[in-house]
Amino acid sequence: MTPEMVRDAKILAVDDEPANVRLLEEILKREGYARIKSIMDPRQVLPQFATFQPDLILLDLMMPHLDGFAVMRQLIPRIPTGAYLPILVLTADSTLAAKQQALSFGAKDFLTKPFDRAEVVLRVKNLLETRYLHLALQDQNQKLDVKVQERTRELEVARLEVLERLALAAEYRDDVTGQHTRRVGAISAILARALGHSDDEIELIRRAAPMHDIGKIGISDAILLKPGKLTPEEFEVMKSHTMIGAKIQSGSVSPLLQMAEVIALTHHEKWDGTGYLGLSGDAIPQEGRIVAVADVFDALTNIRPYKPAFAPEEALRIIRDGSGAHFDPEIVARFLSSADDILDVQRQVQHLSDRHLSLNLSGS
Ligand SMILES: [Fe+2]
Repeated sequence: MTPEMVRDAKILAVDDEPANVRLLEEILKREGYARIKSIMDPRQVLPQFATFQPDLILLDLMMPHLDGFAVMRQLIPRIPTGAYLPILVLTADSTLAAKQQALSFGAKDFLTKPFDRAEVVLRVKNLLETRYLHLALQDQNQKLDVKVQERTRELEVARLEVLERLALAAEYRDDVTGQHTRRVGAISAILARALGHSDDEIELIRRAAPMHDIGKIGISDAILLKPGKLTPEEFEVMKSHTMIGAKIQSGSVSPLLQMAEVIALTHHEKWDGTGYLGLSGDAIPQEGRIVAVADVFDALTNIRPYKPAFAPEEALRIIRDGSGAHFDPEIVARFLSSADDILDVQRQVQHLSDRHLSLNLSGS
């Protein structure tokens, strides 16, 4: 804070005595203060306060129409919470009671009339310096707040990226292209749109759905990559990928990870209650029901260790047949009416993946 900054302050002087006002102006101008507004009618304080936006108010107590206390009563509620706007009371009454009352009304300091030039200058300077320190502190706090928000966002993005990569690592173990998760995200987004969800919700499921099988990271290769049918014991282990996935993503404040946790836990539930946890109908979160359809359809149309890739028509038939048993009938209806878009998006993701692969090969 420089002396120039302090002298650039806007000072509002309120006193019904023209001689007092002139004297104050003269003292302050001699000290280099140039932005002074004087008011002799206290009823003008409020309108002038709003337009002039002073840094300091010099306020007489004994005035006609409105005394200094009434003016303070009007002003104090208009000073923003946490702001430091000093009111310096001018009073001929030097009793302790008058001073205490002025302070209790919100004054920060007082000057006794007749004015002592040096005292006026010092008190004005002190109050203005305090105001500027306060403003600097507020500014600093705001900048820190912004920094904290930025860091929190960066941490959240980094955390999410780690989980997305972990999901991909899990995916690569039983899908060499690593594109199944992305296709499930894209298909789920189409279904969410068809079900009337907002753009934000669609984006959320597009990013959360690819993490549905993140728990496969905890399943051994012998079970995950077994070409034949799993034994009942092996199947129990395989089923635990939903719990593991939910656990990995649990406890986050991020709406995206909260949704990813729900999807990981419930994407193997069946509408008729015969799924992993035995939830049925609307008791299964809708995002879990959406991903159930998207996941099965994409798995059917692509090759897996235990099965060949089915033609899209065959996969669509299986989805249609599962309506009301495996799948939510409403979601199946939306799925079938959006089938062209879904097949399109599958091809797009595949095309991107092939391009990525050929670029990588040609670069190696
Ligand atoms: Fe799964």
